[in-house]
Amino acid sequence: MQGHFLDPNGRIRRTHAVTERRDGSAVDPDPANWERERGTSANGSSPVDGIERGWMNDLIRGSRVLIVDDEESNLVVLEAILEDAGYDNVLCCADETQTFDLYASFQPDVILLDLHMRQMDGITLLKGLRTISGSDYLPVLVITGDASQQTREGALLAGARDFLTKPFTNNELLLRIKNLLETRQLYLTVRKQNRLLESRIDERTRELEEAKIEIMERLARAAEFRDDETGKHTGRVGELCAQIGTALELSEAQIDLMRQAAPLHDVGKIGIPDRILQKPGRLSVDEFEVMKKHTAIGSKLLAGSSSRTLRLAQRIALTHHERWDGRGYAGIVGENIPLSGRIVAVADVYDALTHRRPYKEAWDRERSVAEVKAQAGGQFDPAVVEAFLDLPEVVDLR
Ligand SMILES: [Fe+2]
Repeated sequence: MQGHFLDPNGRIRRTHAVTERRDGSAVDPDPANWERERGTSANGSSPVDGIERGWMNDLIRGSRVLIVDDEESNLVVLEAILEDAGYDNVLCCADETQTFDLYASFQPDVILLDLHMRQMDGITLLKGLRTISGSDYLPVLVITGDASQQTREGALLAGARDFLTKPFTNNELLLRIKNLLETRQLYLTVRKQNRLLESRIDERTRELEEAKIEIMERLARAAEFRDDETGKHTGRVGELCAQIGTALELSEAQIDLMRQAAPLHDVGKIGIPDRILQKPGRLSVDEFEVMKKHTAIGSKLLAGSSSRTLRLAQRIALTHHERWDGRGYAGIVGENIPLSGRIVAVADVYDALTHRRPYKEAWDRERSVAEVKAQAGGQFDPAVVEAFLDLPEVVDLR
């Protein structure tokens, strides 16, 4: 028998060093005599006699058992019974104030707890254990000589899972521990399966999310394919919108939504004829009226979705040609234009200015920034322009 326990001063001691009880009486140094002395083994048989060893599978044998009892002789006896039964991971604690620290470091699968101790009573200890173990299933077997109804109910209320009243037989002790450990193992198995299930669900959710983003990117590219074969305008607008959103101190979630939804701002161009979309010069008044329909077409294409991203994309598709001064496609004024539409308006125009289009050459960044700045309060929301001018890539051009 090679166990350890903590004495009341917190020192780790060998169990065979115990020779004296709290009341000063001597402890028989021969473990074989302890059972007889306690009266827990009336026939003087081995602690595990009568118990089929078959149930003692590796799982239970490897379980961590913590025994808390300020009576050192009790620790010696209990540890002997457990070790003789095949438990090889038993820790004894004679100082109940160490229990919480030991719970954290040893992580027991079952705790055997004396209810009446000198420094901290068992009920208080049980309540503390329940608090620190949280939702973890922690079986505590209370061992007590006090079999009163009040004590039993108090301990059960405080979180005890089972009771053992002195005097008890070794077999009863081992069977109760075994039952508690089996429940503990069932709990651990279910918890492991739940975590596995959760991680699989997370993985599938992530795959679906990635697929959704990719489909939206490809839809945005399909929409702009006829007037920008490089397919990069939509992605750049999405990124620029995310940067402006960051400068405006939007939430992370809103910024991500903007990054995903903004590239779909011109999805309605799918419904605009090539002769207008790809016309190299300025559009006539009638042609421009047709071109303006791409906002309503885009909105119709994206309408009715339960996806937050697509609902935002619809709002953007419908409003990204509105002007702060109310002289945009639908004449919406100022803050009546959704913020997302006001942000995309700036990002879309800046990107169009800095890149070549069928009707114009690319402007340099300085001239483009100056144009955006000049439109603050006219075409654009001044607050959005201010955020745009704070971006690292344009701040030196303002
Ligand atoms: Fe547009």
